[in-house]
Amino acid sequence: MQSGISFIIITIFKWYNVSSVSIEEHIIIIFIYLGQIREKVKKFLVTGGAGFIGSSLVDALLKKNENVTVFDNLSSSNQYMISNSMKGPNYSLIKADMLDEISLLEAIKECNIVFHLAGNSDISLGTSDTKIDYQQNLLATYNLLEAMRNSTSCKRIIFASTSTVYGEAKKMPTPEDYSPLMPISLYGGCKLASEILISTYCHMFNMSGVAVRLANVVGPNATHGVIYDFIHKLSSDTESLEILGDGTQTKSYLYIDDCINALMLAATQSIGTFQPFNVGSNDTINTIDIANIVINQLELENVKVRLTYGVEGRGWLGDVKQMLLDCSKINELGWRAKRNSREAITFAVHGILSRLQRNTVNTFEIDNNRISIYGSSPVHKSKQQE
Ligand SMILES: NC(=O)c1ccc[n+]([C@@H]2O[C@H](COP(=O)([O-])OP(=O)(O)OC[C@H]3O[C@@H](n4cnc5c(N)ncnc54)[C@H](O)[C@@H]3O)[C@@H](O)[C@H]2O)c1
Repeated sequence: MQSGISFIIITIFKWYNVSSVSIEEHIIIIFIYLGQIREKVKKFLVTGGAGFIGSSLVDALLKKNENVTVFDNLSSSNQYMISNSMKGPNYSLIKADMLDEISLLEAIKECNIVFHLAGNSDISLGTSDTKIDYQQNLLATYNLLEAMRNSTSCKRIIFASTSTVYGEAKKMPTPEDYSPLMPISLYGGCKLASEILISTYCHMFNMSGVAVRLANVVGPNATHGVIYDFIHKLSSDTESLEILGDGTQTKSYLYIDDCINALMLAATQSIGTFQPFNVGSNDTINTIDIANIVINQLELENVKVRLTYGVEGRGWLGDVKQMLLDCSKINELGWRAKRNSREAITFAVHGILSRLQRNTVNTFEIDNNRISIYGSSPVHKSKQQE
């Protein structure tokens, strides 16, 4: 884009020397050209844009005055997130399912860059529903890629992948080129398969893509995950807390603002046909420490902690017990997590509690002029939200 602008400016200066066009007219021409360039490169489609990470990403894009269309079936988004994001004329919401190919084709027509975040985000769900990750993560990604293949304007994809693609890596922190990649959950397996599909489509069909392998993301708007689970349990029983697994699960946690900065950076870098990037904080925290942070912030005393132990101390079948990502590759592009895992958890607990106290999750106002409802297909409900 910068080289395009320089080209225009140089051309204008050349014209100025040889033509009779006035400087005012040149300035107008520059603005028209810049407007056209902006039109061409700045229309974002955010699948899953009504979810926890997606809604924050949409807010960040809107703050930069970008043009954003959200594609979401609203199956696991909460009302607060949608109304928070729906500001201004640059926003539109398509309520449709990733399994609805026609709606996807329509949505893609208008866009240039896709942030692909829609999908099942509850890893444990795969233990009881073995189809969900295949359909909501892998098949959904395939449908999106097919729509992109048929599009003339939308050829760039930023995919929200996950640390779980590494399975139980023997090297810690784990770099992107670690192998063999052996996921231990259906979620991780389908995310890895999605990455491979994206890479293949990029190489075969003149597209480019990035897979952002996220650590555990936490923040005030979280609707699932360990903090949410603990707060939820403690709000119904202030004297005891059940922890899934043996409590020693030790993982990296990433604050939502850091996550959004990384996603935005990934969208703007031109870094080859397809690249995976690890994104996490540079340390870890264990589950018992997280429980203590939640208990302290709730100002509870004498809470009896009960460990379920699970299989091999895991929270659920497919739970990776240790995770820390080597983020030097994205660090080289200028991104660094501002908060470590403990700070991320502490801020997130505080944020979730403030949100719940404000009790803002009760109005759902949709301006019908800015919502398109296409054909619907089955909607899943996250286990952790039931
Ligand atoms: N939250 C994390 O810690 C984390 C970590 C690594 C990767 N990720 C990935 O990032 C993405 C976003 O995660 P999140 O935490 O915001 O999850 P989320 O569940 O809050 O958001 C997912 C969104 O996708 C929508 N969606 C689900 N299936 C859909 C379908 N078939 N069609 C249309 N919309 C659909 C949901 O309604 C929801 O709004 C997910 O792909 C997740 O796997 C999340």
